[in-house]
Amino acid sequence: MRGIILSGGSGTRLKPLTNITSKQLLPVYNKPMIYYPLNTLLKAGIREIMIIVAPERAGDYLNLLGSGSRFGAKLTYEIQDKPSGLPEAFVIGQNFVDQENVALILGDNLFENDFSKDIKKFKSGAKIFAKKVPDPERSGVVKFDRNKKAEKIVEKPKKWLSDYAIVGFYLYDHRVLEVAKNLKPSTRGETEIVDLHNWYLHRHELEVGIIKGIWHDAGTIESYYEAQILAKKKLHKQLII
Ligand code: DAU
Repeated sequence: MRGIILSGGSGTRLKPLTNITSKQLLPVYNKPMIYYPLNTLLKAGIREIMIIVAPERAGDYLNLLGSGSRFGAKLTYEIQDKPSGLPEAFVIGQNFVDQENVALILGDNLFENDFSKDIKKFKSGAKIFAKKVPDPERSGVVKFDRNKKAEKIVEKPKKWLSDYAIVGFYLYDHRVLEVAKNLKPSTRGETEIVDLHNWYLHRHELEVGIIKGIWHDAGTIESYYEAQILAKKKLHKQLII
């Protein structure tokens, strides 16, 4: 299993903090934000990790994390010229993933959940993860049928669909590379990760797991502030690097 941390974007919602650095390098309690998703991958047993960054911040990531050898990982870096959608991770990561399965994690997502069992079990298809939240309209949302199978997936639905938000950690087999390459941008001008989920859902090859513990998207100023509190109380204690 290969790992990709998507850590580009312009961090517009966190300006002016992000005028001088990348959002995912901002401190969350005692560590740069990216340490949290990086730890999630390492704890899950993933060692070959590609970090996708915006061009103007690439040097900062290298200075911070280097080759990864000091924590037993092999890190590679790729540039995303402009933020044109999450699925672009698989266009950029084409050669890196090759014929392997791949885990994608968003650089501003903080997790308490341990994904190692899911990764060991994963053979093919796609597995995404959901959590019941009070504000599902901020995220991708999954609706389940009576048998607890995923029935419908919508990105930031305007009308209530379900309370289950899709979190920023995803497992796919290598077919995702081809699917991502052929996606068309949505009306907001970006390719959408829900289109990948739906490709697998329509083929009955999508599994949805419910995660335990804290999940936090630190992408707005309010949620960035809350991230500090969650990290101080709990999340920083679980970091292995
Ligand atoms: O946090 C989970 C949510 O993440 C999911 O529920 C949604 O389905 C998914 O679309 C995504 O929604 P966001 O609104 O949080 O996506 P955002 O555009 O903020 O991008 C998430 C992170 O990925 C952010 O740290 C910046 C980075 N990114 C984003 C894009 C679009 C890139 O590095 N490159 C990109 O092209």
